[in-house]
Amino acid sequence: MKIITGTGSDQVIKENSKVFMLSTKETSYIFRVLPSGHLENLHYGDRLREQDFRALYMKQNAGAGSSVLYMDGAMSLDLLPLEYAPNGKGDYRIMPLEIEMPDGSHVTDFVYAGHEITEGAIPMETLPTAHGEDAVTLTVTLRDKLFPVTMKLIYTVFSNTDVITRRVTISNGSEETLRIRKIMSLSLDLLADSFDVITLDGGWIREAHAHRRNHAHGTFINESTTGASSNRHNPGVILAEPHTTEDHGRCYGFNLIYSGNHHTAIEVSSHGIVRVMTGISPHNFLWLLQPGAFFETPEAVMTTSKKGLNDLSHHFHDFVNHHVVSKGWEGKARPVLMNNWEATFFDFNERKILSMAKEAKKLGVELFVLDDGWFGERNDDKAGLGDYEVNRKKLPNGISGLARKIKEMGLSFGLWFEPEMVNEDSALYRKHPEYAIKIPGRKPSKGRNQLVLDLSREDVQSYIIKQVETVLASASISYVKWDMNRHISDLYSEAVPHQGMAFHSYILGLYRILRKITGDFPDVLFESCSSGGNRFDLGMLSFMPQTWASDNTDPIERLKIQGGLSYFYPPSTMGAHVSQSPHQQTLRRTPLETRFHVASFGLLGYEMDLTNLNMKEKEEIIHQISWYKEHRNLMQFGRFYRHEKEKENRVNFQVVNEEKTRSVLDNFQILQNASPGFDVLHFKGLEKEIKYHVETVKASMDIEAFGELLKHITPMKLKPGGLILRNARKIYRLPHNVESYDAYGDLLESGIRVNQQFMRTGYAKETRMLGDFGSQLMTAEKKGEEESGDR
Ligand code: DGJ
Repeated sequence: MKIITGTGSDQVIKENSKVFMLSTKETSYIFRVLPSGHLENLHYGDRLREQDFRALYMKQNAGAGSSVLYMDGAMSLDLLPLEYAPNGKGDYRIMPLEIEMPDGSHVTDFVYAGHEITEGAIPMETLPTAHGEDAVTLTVTLRDKLFPVTMKLIYTVFSNTDVITRRVTISNGSEETLRIRKIMSLSLDLLADSFDVITLDGGWIREAHAHRRNHAHGTFINESTTGASSNRHNPGVILAEPHTTEDHGRCYGFNLIYSGNHHTAIEVSSHGIVRVMTGISPHNFLWLLQPGAFFETPEAVMTTSKKGLNDLSHHFHDFVNHHVVSKGWEGKARPVLMNNWEATFFDFNERKILSMAKEAKKLGVELFVLDDGWFGERNDDKAGLGDYEVNRKKLPNGISGLARKIKEMGLSFGLWFEPEMVNEDSALYRKHPEYAIKIPGRKPSKGRNQLVLDLSREDVQSYIIKQVETVLASASISYVKWDMNRHISDLYSEAVPHQGMAFHSYILGLYRILRKITGDFPDVLFESCSSGGNRFDLGMLSFMPQTWASDNTDPIERLKIQGGLSYFYPPSTMGAHVSQSPHQQTLRRTPLETRFHVASFGLLGYEMDLTNLNMKEKEEIIHQISWYKEHRNLMQFGRFYRHEKEKENRVNFQVVNEEKTRSVLDNFQILQNASPGFDVLHFKGLEKEIKYHVETVKASMDIEAFGELLKHITPMKLKPGGLILRNARKIYRLPHNVESYDAYGDLLESGIRVNQQFMRTGYAKETRMLGDFGSQLMTAEKKGEEESGDR
């Protein structure tokens, strides 16, 4: 590892007289060593030049009533913005660290002992770490004043994405076992009276809805305790100054590269300092640290912007695309897939699957994914989990036979697994009941009729690795959907010396399994899933470049889910499928067009019985898939923008390519208003000096949507619901939304006054027929490049 020396101005990390300056493209993070040896945070915000930073020191020249002074000096720790506060020395805010020390007390006093600056990120052995050859790492070593216990604060700067990561290690040099009750990866004190806190909350089929509230007093906690990062509260958290919008204002974003119980706490102190900390949840956590052992926390991620929430998201998106997702999948186009789950559930056989695959191929799909139900006695969700032997009644030619036939059609083949679970009704459970998590003598609670395997156990890890790898080696499989369908309860493991270690050990076991399997099969595309988005986090994304965002495929619900996730995760990570309407989750009817438009702002797939579609629907899907392939690079890896809600019934998503020569903007309408006002659509992120050609993507609608009105607008008298109409709608759809312009980026940013919407007084192909749940997709292409190649 190369050690950086010297003080050149281009250095990412500089140290001068014990003041540390970490710089990214647009931000600076500055802290210093206090005379007491503690670390004081001086600045996190805009990039500053190197200078005398005394103006940023916190002043304590007037005291403060009822404060406790450190040792016999004149300084109160409680009034300082600290990097990682010592516990029990007069700072009464929330604490990042609680350890039972050799004397039985919980008081720790870690002070500066040295530091090192190294090139690159430092990978962890047990946990996923962000990677980047251009990253620079600062390791600050702190020692407890009384006991030989060492703490390292590790900062890695990813300058090109304006992200800094932080983590902590503790080494026990004492003769006693330490008991760690709480250890956060990051603790940061910012000067502010209040922040708006944005979190992603929800549940099954309602994941990642963004919520914003002002937090001005006391402590706010965003946490999961289910054993996974959870669909209840995603680990990503944003602090925004109250006036911050999508495109203006200061905000800070935090996330954690971890898939287990997480915890972010935010406390507003009585003196205008906000402490934010993030790490493993202390819920039921207690780690025994033996003499000579060390503990490493997951890596926390932070970034800041003064240009609003979109810019903050762009930092996160770049970071995920370039430093979290493995090198092998960085920027790699993802296939358009067809998944059989919503179409068949467990009820399929080889003939049915092949007929669906044949149809999928005709429409342009590239990968066919066989979901749950292919192995053991898995005919419903009550049996079979754990037994990955193919069910020959359904698939007489096995997985290899099916995969071969699908490959012969010109499609790739993918397969579903749920390796972390077991049904009591399974060969695995009958042979190894001890593999399942449960407490001796207590009847365990079940979720979806299943128990969780104890991934802390090495024999369980080996079993899972062997099962999955045997199947992967046996057939031509290029994609795996890795599912996990319940929360952990009745937690007890024989593999750990203290039950407070069980949750985290489960995740360490999971990561060991994932590292091995994804390492042995680097060309297989893995998509993680947990009843949809119950484990959408940076830990899983480190091993699997994409995640199934939700079991909810209703596009109107997906706007909230994908829109929420987009605060922290780029479109290249979000599995998004077009499904049959009425939707299984809401019974809502939505246009095929809207379903496609929403899914195209993610990784496009189809999850419906394509053999049931009529000719016009098939034509429409052929057009959708070919459009998506043409714009795939833009849709998967372009800059994603959320638009402020201009109208209650409207949502806009947009992507722009890196060169700013192409963009796609979608205008989604939730409910139709009668005689609606005029709409203005604004493009963001374009180049003012470039002239673009803007047009609406070809759209057509089912004539049945006109109901009785049809009688008045067609020359023939058509009976609604009658035979002629039923046949006519199979072969004819009405064009609408036809409009196009040539304009410079400045005009497009200031807004296009688009065509009027339908209001009964007339229809022409230019009329915008959005209706309820309709959408209008517009492309902007630099003039002269409309026909050119890869988008
Ligand atoms: C939950 C997933 O989210 C679904 O997509 C599907 O794979 C089912 N599990 C299968 O059991």
